[in-house]
Amino acid sequence: MTMIPALELKNVSKSFVGVTALRDVSLKVNEGEVLCLLGDNGAGKSTLIKILSGVHQPTTGALLVNGEEHRFTGPHEALQAGIATVHQSGGTVPLMTVGRNFFLGEEPTRGRGIFRHFDRKLAEQVALEELRSLGITNVTNGAALVGGMSGGERQALSIARAMYFGAKVLILDEPTAALGVKEASKVLHLVVQAQMRGVAVVLVTHNVHHALAVGDHFAVLIRGTMADEWSKGERKREQVLDLMAGGEAMGDLEDELREVRARGVAPQEKVGNEHVR
Ligand SMILES: Nc1ncnc2c1ncn2[C@@H]1O[C@H](COP(=O)(O)OP(=O)(O)OP(=O)(O)O)[C@@H](O)[C@H]1O
Ligand SMILES: [Mg+2]
Repeated sequence: MTMIPALELKNVSKSFVGVTALRDVSLKVNEGEVLCLLGDNGAGKSTLIKILSGVHQPTTGALLVNGEEHRFTGPHEALQAGIATVHQSGGTVPLMTVGRNFFLGEEPTRGRGIFRHFDRKLAEQVALEELRSLGITNVTNGAALVGGMSGGERQALSIARAMYFGAKVLILDEPTAALGVKEASKVLHLVVQAQMRGVAVVLVTHNVHHALAVGDHFAVLIRGTMADEWSKGERKREQVLDLMAGGEAMGDLEDELREVRARGVAPQEKVGNEHVR
């Protein structure tokens, strides 16, 4: 039996005025799988994510959710279809509390009529419970401001929120980019937990080691085209690092620099060398 992908792009291209950001890109991710999207600056990763999350519409090609074609007119529609995106900043509001951030736009209320109001206690309690269920135990006060939390904790809050509201697909844009080693590994733990709950995860990263730690499938974008794609275990770490460093381009650079050196040394160095001799 072939599985219907939770999310699929078929031959998607995206052009902005004067720039083609994506060219004929196809990819898919199944439930309970982690797809890592790798690529250098300007490769088209964010553009691709914006198409998956309904911010942009493809110029040509199709987006399928559970095998059905969708054309989102905005992020809200993607969210309703179960596609939650966590942007690099974590998408949280620093001057709001943990509880408020968790329920932003979906606030639980108490009372009726003019007595209806935000149920602060419930929001804070649920937020903490959900964080705890993901193993985040150092956030203990639901009334604390998110501005005082670490980058990793903010990412965790956004991921917990997405899962609580029933995300089937979780898209993370560079979630570990601004984090130290410990915080990054916490976020990677959350990725695996989401996966174990059956969520399809799309993880965008520059970090090959982070990708290899959690990925089931890998896709590399180079200048808007899908340059390579493979499943876990099909490539060695060195091959991936080489590809990410530009592989052949790095080889060319080394040759060029060798030539520059061979052509002549800089004047100050000459003096220094003669002196030593
Ligand atoms: N709204 C836009 N209008 C015009 N050009 C755009 C727009 N968004 C992206 N681009 C161009 O599309 C290309 C891909 O950009 P994109 O932001 O997707 O790259 P990226 O892989 O996310 O890079 P980074 O790693 O730096 O975040 C770039 O050349 C960029 O300048
Ligand atoms: Mg980007």
